[in-house]
Amino acid sequence: MEEKIKIAPSILAADFSQLGIETQAITKAGADYVHVDVMDGHFVPNITIGPEVIKDLRKCTELPFDVHLMIAPVDPFLESFVKSGADIITFHPEAGPNTQKTINIIKKLGIKVGLSLNPSTSIEVLDPLIDCLDLILVMTVVPGFGGQTFLDNQLIKIEKIRKLIDKSGKNIELEVDGGINFDTAPKAISAGADVLVAGTATFNGGPQNYASNISKLRNG
Ligand code: DX5
Ligand code: ZN
Repeated sequence: MEEKIKIAPSILAADFSQLGIETQAITKAGADYVHVDVMDGHFVPNITIGPEVIKDLRKCTELPFDVHLMIAPVDPFLESFVKSGADIITFHPEAGPNTQKTINIIKKLGIKVGLSLNPSTSIEVLDPLIDCLDLILVMTVVPGFGGQTFLDNQLIKIEKIRKLIDKSGKNIELEVDGGINFDTAPKAISAGADVLVAGTATFNGGPQNYASNISKLRNG
């Protein structure tokens, strides 16, 4: 049986002056995860939010926090993200210095671990690591900003990773992030995605639209 597609609204597209209320609104509207884009102005050319904000948002929802780290270094910050309430931490192998070590630290802290592949990152990076992962995130934009255009040329990568996951027999989620909207969501789903990150497309039109936006992204 096909599992239900999960929708992970990226709160980067929320109204930051109302972040708690926005988080409650997407929870009520049927989101599956809260996707938190953490950017440091160094690994990517933008600065967003850190563990203190996540800690306070933890009071606003029981949904899993899907924390996407676009920072370098990663390791010194892992404990504080876990303490703040992260349920899944995803990072980029380019952040260095040792991907396997970072995976081990996250697992030891008792939460799920994901690895994120930039459009230019080859899937070979997964070969020695796939068995340790709970989630693989395929970026369909160059990370750094919300509201960019979905890169169709990543669909083939999603298809290949779907096959790798199925072959592994492991329970690994395949998440797609960047430029997801009502046109591109069906493409990502048919390529094999389980989880769709959607910032702009979820928050478009304000709170009265969140439930219909989420259900349209999920079901087409
Ligand atoms: C990009 C972030 C994405 C982004 C998604 O660096 O990782 O999560 O906020 O935003 P939309 O859905 O607007 O492309
Ligand atoms: Zn993201």
